[in-house]
Amino acid sequence: MLAALAGQAQTPPPFWLMRQAGRYLPEYRQVRAQAGGFLDLCMNPELACEVTLQPLRRYGMDAAILFSDILIIPHALGQGLRFAEGEGPVLDAIRDQQGLLKLDLDGLHRRAAPVYETVSRIRAALDDRTALIGFAGSPWTVACYMVEGGGSKEYAHVKRFAYTDPAGFNRLIDILVEATVEYLSMQIQAGAELVQLFDSWAGALSAPDFQRFVVAPTRRITAALKERHPGTPIIGFPRTAGLNLEGFVEQAGVDAVSLDPGVPASWAAKHLQHKVAVQGNLDPVLLIAGGEAMDRAVLDLLETLGNRPFIFNLGHGIIKETSPENVSRLAGLIRDWKPDTRD
Ligand code: CP3
Repeated sequence: MLAALAGQAQTPPPFWLMRQAGRYLPEYRQVRAQAGGFLDLCMNPELACEVTLQPLRRYGMDAAILFSDILIIPHALGQGLRFAEGEGPVLDAIRDQQGLLKLDLDGLHRRAAPVYETVSRIRAALDDRTALIGFAGSPWTVACYMVEGGGSKEYAHVKRFAYTDPAGFNRLIDILVEATVEYLSMQIQAGAELVQLFDSWAGALSAPDFQRFVVAPTRRITAALKERHPGTPIIGFPRTAGLNLEGFVEQAGVDAVSLDPGVPASWAAKHLQHKVAVQGNLDPVLLIAGGEAMDRAVLDLLETLGNRPFIFNLGHGIIKETSPENVSRLAGLIRDWKPDTRD
């Protein structure tokens, strides 16, 4: 994993899966029930470490990802957060500058301390060949949840904040840049060997706003982390960024880019892979479908991207209806793959 991130193609490529720990695994559902709620599980180092390791025991991924959530930063800044069953996250929405006064950067490390403890427990439990991925949400996506108060289709509240009070909204982005640098820095000190920034809603922005709210804040975060932790690779995931991807790769300061399923692998091979390692981008629904369709798509991806720096992954998180057997088959296909000698 670290060699691929350093720009060396690996055969077979390393793999892990976004949301590799989660509800598709019966052993996860069992621990989750024991923990209470999802947030309780994230804040319980012993149980969070256990669920992080569950998919590795079954499938032997090349990396573990800290079991946590991108909404831990708002939570650790003091914003009210709960995960309502069947509804997803619910936050006490912040809609204006007044609301920002409630955020408490000074309390960040105290409230996030269980996460750092989870990271060190996971690192201690892993062998040397398995990388540990720390993560955070990117400022834009985290701001979406903080301002909308949960998931959204139109992003009307967060965009209205950004458009009508640019100074206030930039203040929120500044707080999130600082919190993210601090939070990831502590994860790295605790044992994370690389980090990923999830920008799930990057695709909701116009090109100029993508530059303002995705590229610029990401660049500030990568610059600060590179200064504090020069050898630690950073993966960016500006989901559904489309034609903005090339600019992101050139300017955001990431070592790798994670691609959503809509990005043609052949385009990524030609336009991105000589600049950064690429990660992705199997449609997670193929892991539900399985069979011929999955096999063909997996082999196509490996043929197209596998000869250059590549990390096999999904284009988005595993869906809870996924059959664990299909994940097993996927792991086998990747492990047995060899470059096609025809080309
Ligand atoms: O990849 C991993 O295995 C690490 C753990 C991880 C989770 N969330 C666990 C989780 C990571 C990296 C995330 C990131 C995350 N969280 C993102 C960015 C990636 C993406 O999916 O776009 C976002 C937007 C969130 C916010 C979030 N967390 C939502 C919208 C939800 C509800 C959706 C759902 O599937 O229920 C969550 C909950 C969540 N985060 C679960 C898990 C395993 C399900 C919680 C449960 O057990 O009930």
